[in-house]
Amino acid sequence: MIVAGNFKTHHTRSSTLKYCNALDKRLEGIENIEVRIFPTLSSLPYDNFTHLKIGAQNAYCVSNGAYSGEVGEEQLFELGIKTLLIGHSERREIFKEDKEMIKKKFDFFSSRGFEIFLCIGENLEVKKSGGTKEYLMRQLEGISLCYPKLIVAYEPIWAIGSGVSASLEEIEEIHSFLQEIGVKTSVYGGSVKRENAKEIMSLKGVDGVLVGGASLELESFCAIIGC
Ligand code: PGA
Repeated sequence: MIVAGNFKTHHTRSSTLKYCNALDKRLEGIENIEVRIFPTLSSLPYDNFTHLKIGAQNAYCVSNGAYSGEVGEEQLFELGIKTLLIGHSERREIFKEDKEMIKKKFDFFSSRGFEIFLCIGENLEVKKSGGTKEYLMRQLEGISLCYPKLIVAYEPIWAIGSGVSASLEEIEEIHSFLQEIGVKTSVYGGSVKRENAKEIMSLKGVDGVLVGGASLELESFCAIIGC
């Protein structure tokens, strides 16, 4: 099982380090759960925790170069970071990252052996029109699903930060669909919290959860992990 926390633009460097150190200790003796934290880029610590793995919320698909405002592989490599989140709906919607850009990032960082969490998910309009599966399939077009370190994160946009997660039936249906089309590992994200995490993680085809808001506070995240 994978439990990942996405801090988005929350926490400072000092609060991130304090949190990660405390979490790493709490993970002592916890088996069968792989935990990831995605802090802001300025808070990225050296990835030298014993149990916890740190990932970057974003990076540009270069080793280095003239790309103001971005970090590349070289900067992540220095910190020992080999896990990356791409395609989050906030990157797609606010920062206008399109499918081609996400594919370029996937191709580059997969060629460098990164573990990649690739987020996909439909908005409410698509959901209402009944076109969710087709939409998700299009988001995965050109992505090599057999890449062994790919984790697809199904995050319906209408469930992100809304307090209302997808129903258990919806989550199960989409995850079995993802399996049918060749996705090997998939997690669910969108208003996961301590009250629903266990049920969601027990669903067939669900390999874990990606948590935003409920990961910001250590006790709340630990309740989801069970540590
Ligand atoms: P949420 O965010 O848990 O706050 O809904 C999830 C995400 O955006 O990854």
